[in-house]
Amino acid sequence: MEKNMRHMMNPLDFSVEELEALFDVANDIEKNSAAYSHKCDGKILATCFYEPSTRTRLSFETAMLRLGGQTLGFADAGSSSAAKGESVADTIRVISCFADICAMRHPKEGAPMVAASKSLIPVINAGDGGHQHPTQTLTDLLTIRSLHGKLSDFTIGLCGDLKFGRTVHSLINALTRYSGIHFIFISPNELRVPDYITEMLDSKGITYEEVIKLEDVMPRLDFLYMTRVQKERFFNEEDYIRLKDFYILDKEKMAHAKEKMYILHPLPRVNEISVEIDNDPRAAYFRQVQYGLYVRMALILTLLNMTDAHMNEGLLREF
Ligand code: CP
Repeated sequence: MEKNMRHMMNPLDFSVEELEALFDVANDIEKNSAAYSHKCDGKILATCFYEPSTRTRLSFETAMLRLGGQTLGFADAGSSSAAKGESVADTIRVISCFADICAMRHPKEGAPMVAASKSLIPVINAGDGGHQHPTQTLTDLLTIRSLHGKLSDFTIGLCGDLKFGRTVHSLINALTRYSGIHFIFISPNELRVPDYITEMLDSKGITYEEVIKLEDVMPRLDFLYMTRVQKERFFNEEDYIRLKDFYILDKEKMAHAKEKMYILHPLPRVNEISVEIDNDPRAAYFRQVQYGLYVRMALILTLLNMTDAHMNEGLLREF
């Protein structure tokens, strides 16, 4: 185990300055990707996914492949020895014998943290239950910084399932460290943002509003963060069916938005954004996926302590 080994469990694990450095590396990768293509030669990333995923798992695997490394792992718990009763603690000790870094998604909140406490290699939380999804948050922050030029002074509307959406909870937490951000929470009463979040915002003196109608606030938004209703976290089907199509963003609603209001979505999308919006220049959700790749490449390099040489090379190249 390396003396200074770090994990990524929560976006707040990194200071604002460390995140700036991470995003600088990500933006450098965006511009100079060829310069990074052998940075992780000989390194192996393990992806241990106990819950379904398309973007996060494939984004991590692509990130390591584009850095010149290799990947191994499993995409569902049923094909791992978890099906025979193996604990996460034992699994990570085993993975530590095979790989240099591990990205783990688990339906149980805190499972990646348990893994990190027993691991001999850096562990990245790739989503744990309804708790945290730090690399989605890093993706969201990098996207906002790249589109807006800074991580301060904007109004963001978060719309949809604000109760179960871990990406929303994670993003709100991360944004509280920046100045001049006003939150507008748009949800049906049943899917309101949890009280612990509004209490945290109150305690920090951060301004927010809670509304039900998206149309009412549309003209004031700089970013609109849409989310799907999380079917897998509902206790009964009836409630899910009643709420799943509560918000559908379409051309009519977009007509009331600012010319420079960007639409974000962690994806997967179900019905909450009409496909007729996809070609609107303000639809930034597929660009967001691309930023997710750059930020995961930067995170792998950072946790493997391999960033400096490349950034220096990047700076030298500019001279
Ligand atoms: N945004 C996100 O976490 O997508 P996946 O569930 O497909 O990984």
